[in-house]
Amino acid sequence: MSVEQAPAKKTMGVDPFERNWMLFSIALLVVFFTLVTIAGFALGFQVPGVETEVDPATVADSGPFASPGLRQIADGEYEAHVVARTFSYDPREIEVPVGSKVTIYVTSVDVQHGFKIQDTNINMQIVPGQVSKLTYTFDRVGEFPYICTEYCGIAHAAMYGVVKVVQPGAGGDG
Ligand code: CUA
Repeated sequence: MSVEQAPAKKTMGVDPFERNWMLFSIALLVVFFTLVTIAGFALGFQVPGVETEVDPATVADSGPFASPGLRQIADGEYEAHVVARTFSYDPREIEVPVGSKVTIYVTSVDVQHGFKIQDTNINMQIVPGQVSKLTYTFDRVGEFPYICTEYCGIAHAAMYGVVKVVQPGAGGDG
């Protein structure tokens, strides 16, 4: 039994043991606030960026979201545009060769959705009027389902698609 805290005097009627835990909690808040500040401003950790502001009523009428899907932009590098709407994604399937670095742009034409690709760190909020963007390198063959992570209505649970990561030349439309 070790009681090595300051003389056990009662301060404002607070038990020393309780006071120490209160001080510990406050210290934790200070530590967390400091870490979040460092991560946000010094290390550049950001929430999925607002890439562009768009008009949700017309965004799918012209430009890349009018023909959503995969485009090759360099050797081993792709970009994919995905339109989210209640209750589906367009496209529902994206196929890339293994090792591809894919930048994914997603926007919504109606309400707020989510876009999370299982087993990756891609997890974005999709807000109408904004384009969310994240990049990921698919270095493992397999199927990576993407799902809606924001409740958007009655068929929210049916809102999903899949990224198929394949060996180059193993079929598909390349
Ligand atoms: Cu879209 Cu839930």
